[in-house]
Amino acid sequence: MMKNIYAKKNATRHQRFVILVGLAIPVITGLAAFSKAVSHPILSQMRMRTEKLFGQAKPPVQENHAPVVKIINPAANSIYPENAQVRYEVAVSDKEDGETKFQEIPPNEIFLEVRYFASGSKALAASKQALKNDPPGLETIKASNCLNCHAFNAKLIGPSFYDIGKRYSFSKSHVDTLSRRILEGTTGVWGSIKMPTHPELTKGQATDIVGWILKNASDPAVDYYMGTEGSFRVKVPPASGGKDAVSGSKRTVAGDKSVSSAGKGILVLTASYTDHGVKDKPTERLKGQETILLKIQ
Ligand code: HEC
Repeated sequence: MMKNIYAKKNATRHQRFVILVGLAIPVITGLAAFSKAVSHPILSQMRMRTEKLFGQAKPPVQENHAPVVKIINPAANSIYPENAQVRYEVAVSDKEDGETKFQEIPPNEIFLEVRYFASGSKALAASKQALKNDPPGLETIKASNCLNCHAFNAKLIGPSFYDIGKRYSFSKSHVDTLSRRILEGTTGVWGSIKMPTHPELTKGQATDIVGWILKNASDPAVDYYMGTEGSFRVKVPPASGGKDAVSGSKRTVAGDKSVSSAGKGILVLTASYTDHGVKDKPTERLKGQETILLKIQ
């Protein structure tokens, strides 16, 4: 009878649809009942998958919130004489990781970049840049244990990255030697203290790190500081002496009076912190940062 109707030339689309659905429903419910009844692991896995698909057994999704980073000191747009010692203070608040004021954020994961610009317009442009990711070398340094022993510009247990960048020019042989020493450990070059091995890093990561150190750490226009507070000196790098200055003596920046005259230059301070994601997705990390400008007179 069913076959007859189906075969009938004048069976409407509606009729065919009703028949198909009529057939499908018992098949699907039958399969579902069967898979519920039989506790074979593959079947129960299938069941879990379908339940996930249709949202029945879905666990609540935990959302990661971006950290809020604030430069408490110095005040934005303040003016400092050259060589002044500036105390800085950074606060971080992250919904998942906690608050700096309760010592819940590891200080060696908070960074302050101090970058010099001779021209106000370039400083302003740099300060307005969207959140950018660190270059791979710097990112690996921050994520590894390097900063327990190395600072960017002061000797700790190991030499500063600044001194390492001064000692070795950027060349393939230096990159090869230094990345091998990072991976295998080293001693006797800077003193008698040993640098441990870093078997958790790949050769590519070590190469990126050395490349970053040799190219950037010796750049006199940039300094990096770590921690919630500290101090830095206001420097006008001799090498860049107005190199990035806008031509002519009048350096005006539309729309921002505070840097309309660059004086001896502008420092762009960028504080940042990258959070640890949420428990289920620790690799999905979010970065928060704040940027302010200081004027050098
Ligand atoms: C436990 C402390 C410690 C840690 C952690 C550490 N270092 Fe070192 N590092 C040292 C010491 C000490 C030296 C100096 C060794 C020497 O005198 O030969 C050094 C030297 C270096 C050098 C210069 C090597 C040379 O031959 O001139 C580089 C580059 C370097 N470290 C990078 C790193 C990087 C990148 C990391 C993280 C992946 C790191 N270090 C982690 C202590 C450490």
